[in-house]
Amino acid sequence: MIDLSVEVAGLKLKNPVIVGSCGFTDSVESIKKLEEAGAGAVVLKSLFEEQIMNDVYDTMGDVNNVYAHPELGDYVRYFEEKDIVDKYLKLIKDAKKTVSIPVIASINCASFNKWVEFSSEIEKAGADGLEINLYYLPSDPTVTEHTYLNTAMNISKELKKHIKIPFALKLGYYSDTLAKDLLTISRTDVSALVLFNKPFNPDIDIDKETIISGYPYSAPSEISTSLRWIAILSDFVETDLIATTGVHHGKDVVKEILAGAKAVQMTSTLYLNSFSVIQRSLDELKSWMEKHNYKKLSDFRGKLSRKDHVIYDRVQFLKRGKGE
Ligand SMILES: Cc1cc2nc3c(=O)[nH]c(=O)nc-3n(C[C@H](O)[C@H](O)[C@H](O)COP(=O)(O)O)c2cc1C
Repeated sequence: MIDLSVEVAGLKLKNPVIVGSCGFTDSVESIKKLEEAGAGAVVLKSLFEEQIMNDVYDTMGDVNNVYAHPELGDYVRYFEEKDIVDKYLKLIKDAKKTVSIPVIASINCASFNKWVEFSSEIEKAGADGLEINLYYLPSDPTVTEHTYLNTAMNISKELKKHIKIPFALKLGYYSDTLAKDLLTISRTDVSALVLFNKPFNPDIDIDKETIISGYPYSAPSEISTSLRWIAILSDFVETDLIATTGVHHGKDVVKEILAGAKAVQMTSTLYLNSFSVIQRSLDELKSWMEKHNYKKLSDFRGKLSRKDHVIYDRVQFLKRGKGE
């Protein structure tokens, strides 16, 4: 009898497939369908502080009006924020009443105090865990300090003081000292690292000469980045690792666990291949385990981590033989 259960970030999951934060985790009906489709847990669509500010600008007409009438701006902001946050907390409560799989909330904030404020509200609403959606683009050439590392460290330190539910940091991969930074972050009280956050990408419509949203979904080939870094980090980081970006099928789940992941998140594949891909992936995982004589995930987790496979460090396409 094969056991797919796993404890990750302090949460007990019936299988390692977590549905990543996306439009499908934005309503109770859809979350219920994801549970029926076999998901081990869901990460809710993020609550974005930036979205609240955008809604304030929409209500006030434009940015200049907000600055011209700061008191009115504060007033509108208070009610917009309350409305959006209340809806989010209701989603958590309703989801918790409806499904039995863990419900993980997700937030992205622009100001430091909101990370703590939203997290505490989310904990009170009954979420099983929290994903901190952090992304950093090192686009400012004048920056000299480790802004990203400091932000991650401070959030982790502060949240530990204020909430009891497990929280994971979903991080991007831009950093000049990535391995060292992730080791440092893993030594804080964080329950897991979710690697790596996929950024929104802008594109350009050349006919209309306007900036538009780029293609939102990942390709299966994008798994290489998380695979490489999960394999490298799983040997030494001091927290659980959850893989995201490019996990589309059961074989990808197998690969990430072989590299050292405790669980994976799937998002784009649900849009491209429908919810049934979850069960198909779990069946694929099970039959692969049967074929290889593994009874539980820990039997093969990390078997192909970097420890004995320095190839993960290679970045050049070295010539291996004649004609290659
Ligand atoms: C339509 C869509 C909406 C998303 N919304 C969020 C979000 O609100 N918060 C977040 O952290 N990630 C969001 N993501 C990113 C996914 O959670 C995930 O990290 C990314 O798609 C890479 O994983 P994948 O290859 O399995 O798709 C979204 C992705 C898609 C496709």
